[in-house]
Amino acid sequence: MYPRDRTRILEVGQARTHGLGADVYLMRQFARRPGAAVHQGHAHLGPRRVGQYRSQCADVVARVPYIHGSHPNAGTVPRPWKARRAYYGNTVVLLSTLNPDGTTNIAPMSSTWALGHTIVLGMGVGSRTATNLRERGEAVLNLPGVELWKQVERLGDTTGNTRGQVQHGHGSVPCADKFAAVGLDRQPSQTVSCDRVAQCRLQIEVRVVGAAPDADGHFLIAQTHVQMVHADPAIVVPGTSHVDPRLWKPLIYNFRHYHTLGSQVGESAITETPSA
Ligand SMILES: Cc1cc2nc3c(=O)[nH]c(=O)nc-3n(C[C@H](O)[C@H](O)[C@H](O)COP(=O)(O)O)c2cc1C
Repeated sequence: MYPRDRTRILEVGQARTHGLGADVYLMRQFARRPGAAVHQGHAHLGPRRVGQYRSQCADVVARVPYIHGSHPNAGTVPRPWKARRAYYGNTVVLLSTLNPDGTTNIAPMSSTWALGHTIVLGMGVGSRTATNLRERGEAVLNLPGVELWKQVERLGDTTGNTRGQVQHGHGSVPCADKFAAVGLDRQPSQTVSCDRVAQCRLQIEVRVVGAAPDADGHFLIAQTHVQMVHADPAIVVPGTSHVDPRLWKPLIYNFRHYHTLGSQVGESAITETPSA
């Protein structure tokens, strides 16, 4: 039996040497020791079986409560967990792209992030959107508000491809006019050829400046550059070019559930729209 504190110091040090998180390293070491916590706790289960890994992790970490630091409440400390997906979601975007026949395709996506005037998009390689991004090099990010979640959800099951296919969980039914299918209106863009979605209060016209598959070859990662932003004046701080974050309620895809933001809890020291 190891004295707990000493075990922890030794193990964390060794975990670093092995380039592992302390939890993972500890779990592996404990699992190897005859008579260790995992073995004792699960001796009655017999040979390893599906699902055992998760309970072993929980068991080991529960018996070594301080491995994430000196947190006084072990119950709130994250534990190793074999997540089915690491896809935590993000703000929802309806992405407009240009089809070969000059019409506009729209598809919901949450895998986007912005850095200055660069916006990175991640879309399944088999989607119409990915093909259009590669071939036509332009798009509009239309940001829906919470009131559009049902349209967004329905659009997730449609594709601009002529043949349907299941795209990572979404059953894609071919649809030539997605605007009409869910009752959304087109609005011409100013710097790109594909249309904007009139019901979206924030619209960002972009051009693709680079695109490559992700490491697994499942997604196209497109880097885009912002050409023009359109915002409903009702969500802009009067007399400025800033969106008022207290007035804009984005649609958030949170582990595949639709949410929006609650009330403000604080603000950054570098905000350009301070509350006071
Ligand atoms: C809320 C939501 C978010 C989505 N986010 C993504 C995403 O980030 N990347 C992706 O490849 N597919 C995402 N999808 C699935 C695509 O929208 C779906 O595969 C769609 O059929 C693609 O249409 P397209 O083939 O016309 O491009 C999302 C779907 C929903 C409903």
